[in-house]
Amino acid sequence: MRLELDNISIHFGAIKAVRNVSIDVPSGSVAAIIGANGAGKTTIMRGIVGLVPLAGGDIRLDGTVINDVPTEQRTRSGVALSPEGRRLFPEMTVEDNLRTGAYLRRDAAAVKGDMDMVYDLFPRLTERRQSLGRTLSGGEQQMVAIGRALMAAPRLLLLDEPSLGLAPGVIHMMAGAIRRIADTGVTVLLVEQNSHLALSLSRTGHVLESGRLIRSAPSAELLQDEDLKRAYLGDDPMAVK
Ligand SMILES: Nc1ncnc2c1ncn2[C@@H]1O[C@H](COP(=O)(O)OP(=O)(O)O)[C@@H](O)[C@H]1O
Ligand SMILES: [Mg+2]
Repeated sequence: MRLELDNISIHFGAIKAVRNVSIDVPSGSVAAIIGANGAGKTTIMRGIVGLVPLAGGDIRLDGTVINDVPTEQRTRSGVALSPEGRRLFPEMTVEDNLRTGAYLRRDAAAVKGDMDMVYDLFPRLTERRQSLGRTLSGGEQQMVAIGRALMAAPRLLLLDEPSLGLAPGVIHMMAGAIRRIADTGVTVLLVEQNSHLALSLSRTGHVLESGRLIRSAPSAELLQDEDLKRAYLGDDPMAVK
């Protein structure tokens, strides 16, 4: 599924969180939006699923403008979000959390197949199947959040900060899982403060600063860019970003 953001703006009262952003994500490709905390990344994701209204511009899926389409209908048409902060149901098991992702589907056999696919992608969750959401580690929670989005059988998967707060080893595992998901042909839009990870997973990168897109380029090119390295890819852990 192709996603086009055409000159979109999103405001919260006087706060112009997203200003005239245009991004084209071709069907089956992986794109990344990178930018500092507060740049407007999550707001764009919420706009795509219809949780916040546009102040201007158009969102198109496979060429059709969906600005006024309700969230549930966007889910039905194949858009799924793994939200920042994971947002699991703490008193529900892993299995039931995953099942909530398929709540609009009636194709029981295909849902079962997708559940098996999620456990295959994240073998750790097989062991944690009956554990409650609140007992999971950060990495396990993230696996469930992505797994739940996959249970909607998306054609466009939105991943908001999948690596946030995870240990390096877990991030590595997560990166491998995201690659495997992308290889299935689903379109992926990835949002990360971890620019290095996002750019290594994507074909195209978009740099967001204070709600504005300041650059779009092949991710490989952005990874090499000296100015960008200083601003977003610095490996000095004490650097203020
Ligand atoms: N519901 C909201 N109400 C008011 N301001 C918001 C709301 N959500 C986000 N913002 C503001 O919009 C800007 C962008 O936030 P956000 O999209 O969360 O950034 P990012 O995900 O890049 O860290 C910030 O200034 C934030 O404070
Ligand atoms: Mg965010």
